[in-house]
Amino acid sequence: MISVITGASAGIGEAAAVKLAGQGQQVVLVGRNPAKLAGVADRVKAVSGSLPDILSCDYTSLEDVRKLASELRSRYERIDILVNNAGVMTTARTLTPDGHETMIQVNHLAPFLLTNLLLDRVTGRVITTSSRAARMGRINPADLNRSRRWWSGWLQYGDSKQANALFTVELARRLSGTGVSATCFHPGVIKTEFAPRTFTMWMAKNIPGMGQTAEEGASTLVHLATHPDGAAHPGRYFARSVPESVPRGMTDPDLARALWDASAETVA
Ligand SMILES: NC(=O)c1ccc[n+]([C@@H]2O[C@H](COP(=O)([O-])OP(=O)(O)OC[C@H]3O[C@@H](n4cnc5c(N)ncnc54)[C@H](OP(=O)(O)O)[C@@H]3O)[C@@H](O)[C@H]2O)c1
Repeated sequence: MISVITGASAGIGEAAAVKLAGQGQQVVLVGRNPAKLAGVADRVKAVSGSLPDILSCDYTSLEDVRKLASELRSRYERIDILVNNAGVMTTARTLTPDGHETMIQVNHLAPFLLTNLLLDRVTGRVITTSSRAARMGRINPADLNRSRRWWSGWLQYGDSKQANALFTVELARRLSGTGVSATCFHPGVIKTEFAPRTFTMWMAKNIPGMGQTAEEGASTLVHLATHPDGAAHPGRYFARSVPESVPRGMTDPDLARALWDASAETVA
């Protein structure tokens, strides 16, 4: 079983990679920092007995994403599970060299592009790390960068995570009948390197009982990768390893299609 995991250099992705490797899966670690990936590879070897492949890719470059897809295609005839987990939250508004707002590119456009470039090689499941922040998302397919609307870091992060949920809905529709499923999930409030210097993460790390460990954050991901639930609920958003009811903005099929079309045009 080959699982490609993005954002595997830290936090939830690292914890999931170690757990899945310990259960016998062949994990492929994707991140942007080779030194951090090498450290995770050592942890994987300690539980599995063999060093995993590592691949570097910076999601702020769509060209880098295309190179990653090409490298994965040359190395693997099939990918059983693709885990789109890499993500970022930043309070500063920045643009990538491609000209897109950083969170919408790293959290949505880059995994959208990677998934599309690999889809014919994926045989089992596509799992995307969304967030409860998706509930407050107000994504506008005509304004993915929020350049024409009020901008705040958390609002834009919410849009990007709503995009993960809508991407999952439309991907599941497109994959219907193929045997490949798509799900997404909220990991919890997890004490990782995520959202540094924000009050939310300061509270998670300093108020007893508020934040959970990376291993706890990875548990729903591992569930979706290994349990029949991961195939039985296409298009659904999970939290605490069960499908959860979510606002219409995270499931609306028309919005999901409009977002898909706008994203395809943006990364073309
Ligand atoms: N922590 C939470 O409370 C929480 C809650 C809800 C959802 N999430 C989601 O969970 C996912 C994993 O986050 P985490 O909590 O594990 O945070 P993390 O420890 O910061 O890990 C994020 C991962 O994404 C990678 N990444 C960030 N920017 C990237 C870029 N430009 N190109 C390629 N990779 C990049 C990071 O690489 P580096 O190691 O090089 O930085 C790291 O591997 C994210 O999608 C996040 O939105 C987290």
